[in-house]
Amino acid sequence: MAALTPPEKIWFNGQIRPWFEATTHVLTHALHYGSSVFEGIRAYDTPAGTAVFRLTEHIDRLFDSARIYRMEIPYSKEDIINACKEIVRTNNLKQAYLRPVAYFGYGGIGIVPGPETPVDVAIAAFEWGAYLGEGTQERGVDVGVSSWHRLAPNTMPTGAKAGGNYLSSALIAREARRHGYAEGIALDAQNMVSEGAGQNIFLVKKKKLYTPPLTASILPGLTRDAVIVLAKQLGYEVIEQSIAREALYVADEIFLCGTASEIVPVRSVDSMKVGSGARGPVTHAIQKKFFGLFTGETADTHGWLEPVENPTSAQVRAIYA
Ligand SMILES: Cc1ncc(COP(=O)(O)O)c(C=O)c1O
Repeated sequence: MAALTPPEKIWFNGQIRPWFEATTHVLTHALHYGSSVFEGIRAYDTPAGTAVFRLTEHIDRLFDSARIYRMEIPYSKEDIINACKEIVRTNNLKQAYLRPVAYFGYGGIGIVPGPETPVDVAIAAFEWGAYLGEGTQERGVDVGVSSWHRLAPNTMPTGAKAGGNYLSSALIAREARRHGYAEGIALDAQNMVSEGAGQNIFLVKKKKLYTPPLTASILPGLTRDAVIVLAKQLGYEVIEQSIAREALYVADEIFLCGTASEIVPVRSVDSMKVGSGARGPVTHAIQKKFFGLFTGETADTHGWLEPVENPTSAQVRAIYA
């Protein structure tokens, strides 16, 4: 797993501050109760300059997650979008992983945060490599079905990207790593395939793509959505339906997708080879289409690339050259 290299600055409660000054008290509500909501977003160095992938939709999801927990973010969506771009520019990053987080802060220790508990907001932007390791997007990863299931819909909503949910992800991922797998695949409360600890999942069978529906205790991933759109553009049928565990064992191809991991082929599940045990042609075609968005080979027909107008970006360099 790629380590974090600290950048110089971070956006914290409306100000650009030195990275190591963005600290909080140990009695911060979120530290005790997991009461934070956050996003993981990537900015890419495209031929037209640094651009953030689906920034507005990520911030929409951040605000949706906050709403589910009745958390009022004390900034507008526009403020947060601008702050995301600003912190990428300030840190002089051509490509970055962005982590906006809103959380119940210091000022009360009751489970239900009251008016004495502020909502703090931070936005970090830093260089971060492939989440499942360098080379995994070509080589693929080994995964195992977890004994830990995803949260049932009447326990904690997986549609909210909340800090507390990631205790479930940590159990799934840790168990997988203990067994020598790169990642764990969780089933939902009905024992149907849900998702990875931090990625959505797709199966390919006879050139058709299958993915669990939004009702399978998944996070509605923006990469998942992009894959669905791009796969259809490539002429593949994409079917959102309940997937039984055994379908994993007889799939021609499987891949995981998410902002941090991007698109990663799965070469084995529970120590059984998937297809030939190497990246399959459909996965490869979808990867090419997806990464083509950032090299300019795939047209951005949906306005997914939101420029940061980074002075170090290719576009501005070209203007001033
Ligand atoms: C549990 C979980 N599922 C799926 C995803 C993929 O979502 P996205 O593509 O929006 O990053 C993530 C990553 O954020 C995640 O944490």
